[in-house]
Amino acid sequence: MATPGSGRIRDEDVTYVRESSQIDDVVGDYVALKGAGSGAKKGLCPFHDEKSPSFTVTASKGYFHCFGCGVGGDVIAFLMKIDHLTFMEAVEKLADRMNYTLHYDGVGSGTGSGINRSRLFAANLAAAKFYQENLNQISPTAQIGREFLQKRGFDKAAAEHFGVGYAPDEWDGLYKNLKANGFTDTELSTAGLTKEGTKGPIDRYRNRLVWPIRNISGDYVGFGARKLASDEVDQGPKYLNTSETPIYKKSQILYGLDLAKKEIAKKRQVVIVEGYTDVMAAHLAGVTTAVATCGTAFGEDHIKVIRQLLMDDDSFRGEVIFTFDGDAAGQKAAMKAFELDQKFVTQTFVAVEPTGKDPCELRMESGDAAVRDLIARRIPLFEFAMRTQIAKYDVATAEGRVSALNVVAPILANIKDKSLRPEYIKLLAGWLGLDVETVAAKVKTSGSKAPVSDQTTVEKPREEVNLRDPILMLEREVLKIKLQYPDLATDWANLESNAFSYWAYHQLRTEIDALAKLDIQELLAKSQSEDVKSLITELMVEPIRIDREISERYTISIFARLREVAITRSITELKSTLQRLNPVENEAKYQEIFAELVRLEAAKRVQRELSVGELG
Ligand code: CTP
Ligand code: MN
Repeated sequence: MATPGSGRIRDEDVTYVRESSQIDDVVGDYVALKGAGSGAKKGLCPFHDEKSPSFTVTASKGYFHCFGCGVGGDVIAFLMKIDHLTFMEAVEKLADRMNYTLHYDGVGSGTGSGINRSRLFAANLAAAKFYQENLNQISPTAQIGREFLQKRGFDKAAAEHFGVGYAPDEWDGLYKNLKANGFTDTELSTAGLTKEGTKGPIDRYRNRLVWPIRNISGDYVGFGARKLASDEVDQGPKYLNTSETPIYKKSQILYGLDLAKKEIAKKRQVVIVEGYTDVMAAHLAGVTTAVATCGTAFGEDHIKVIRQLLMDDDSFRGEVIFTFDGDAAGQKAAMKAFELDQKFVTQTFVAVEPTGKDPCELRMESGDAAVRDLIARRIPLFEFAMRTQIAKYDVATAEGRVSALNVVAPILANIKDKSLRPEYIKLLAGWLGLDVETVAAKVKTSGSKAPVSDQTTVEKPREEVNLRDPILMLEREVLKIKLQYPDLATDWANLESNAFSYWAYHQLRTEIDALAKLDIQELLAKSQSEDVKSLITELMVEPIRIDREISERYTISIFARLREVAITRSITELKSTLQRLNPVENEAKYQEIFAELVRLEAAKRVQRELSVGELG
């Protein structure tokens, strides 16, 4: 059976979904759009900070583009970017939106219908509701769940805010309820809500307190479930988390992200805590940027998700703060993070409570302010890493100090941002009771021999151009006509080779001509330059500068004007070549160029008449 996530979505389906989606409706779920004339709508760009709207959507063309930050694309690109989805996920989300069942090629194709992702979201949502209702029931076991929450400092409002529920102590309470609500056995098992028992499907979570887990878009995708019975009664693990399903990828999922994402982007800070109760405690204490991994270590995929929220103008800004309980596992996790992406690491901080309390325990014992204070007292991961190493040695002895220095110096030597080093060297010298020079010398000699791989590539400086220059505006109009009204761009193939004087316009023309048939999707996909890609979406959403209807007569005149300009440019060049030629010595050449000049002058007159014809 074709399940989402397996195989490849058929091309026809991708095209169908793209073309049947109203991009302004989809964008409208995230951005308030207002009509801006000529079929364009504008709003504040969700991808960068701005006060006046430069984010433009042109529904008739199916593209968006921000004139402020240059980001643009079609409806699929929009969802990928705003919801941090893969291409497949974005197409699947659009298909769900219009209730369309996608067909998958490849693995398992051709054996029946796939499971609709929206059914899996719906099943998880229905389960969350069922569990939530059960928490408030008078069953004695639900009472244990309520007490658990109460003991950890969560009142009814807090539990409701996070949708906490209770999975009853029955074999198939959820199964029966969801079956009655029209879900199939396959949907329930695929969603990870039930498993196969000896006499049919049974609930996966029983007598547990459950936290519904939502993805970044707020869809219900899974659960974290804590054991309530004693270990003698229930031998299962303390926490059960949803295992992989088509809508739940544990390497990417961060509990609380749907609630925290706006704050994370706004404050440019994300706090990574260790558990469901910690996320609750942090948010209630005012640390609304807190999220947690779900039963797995924080890894590369989580970094990717977070990095996109903290991206700004193509650079990663902001702080990632880990709260680890002070035990070995926490330190191991920190060291792991330390091995990850260097750019990520320099912005990574650690907040460790001295006595090893997690945010939930800290809030219970010392209140909201203590939790906020813990986060405020974060220290850079480098510092944490150094201290962790130093703690292994007895720095009261000379041997201990030397050993510690030997281990810590390479860490310092590895800091790519060299401006940070002197500060850390001073700190380290202080901790070890050594003089700064000794430490600095040691750091210098333990410099990493690894090649510097991520050197910033220096962009070739592009010449500054004034795009308001009338000729460049003309070039731009011609490109817009070609992209937006290809049927009206009848003279495109005849454009002179020097028709476009601005490099990006010229490049775009070359890329268009490299295609067998103009197809914006293909053009975007094949373009080698981010600048040109951005230009394409920009030109797709920018209205044609005309007050009247766009007609063929109009486009002919615009093309003719551009051709006239291009021909004039060639004429000027030829004339100057001619001046430098001696008609006696180079007679043949002279005659040849002269004839070409005559031809161009005639061609120029034709184009002039065509262009004035419409305007006159
Ligand atoms: N966890 C897990 N499986 C376990 C234990 C823990 O997946 N067997 C994950 C859960 O996501 C949990 C987090 O690790 O929320 C933190 O675990 P722990 O600190 O043991 O849980 P607390 O929530 O602090 O403990 P309690 O539930 O007792 O308050
Ligand atoms: Mn804990």
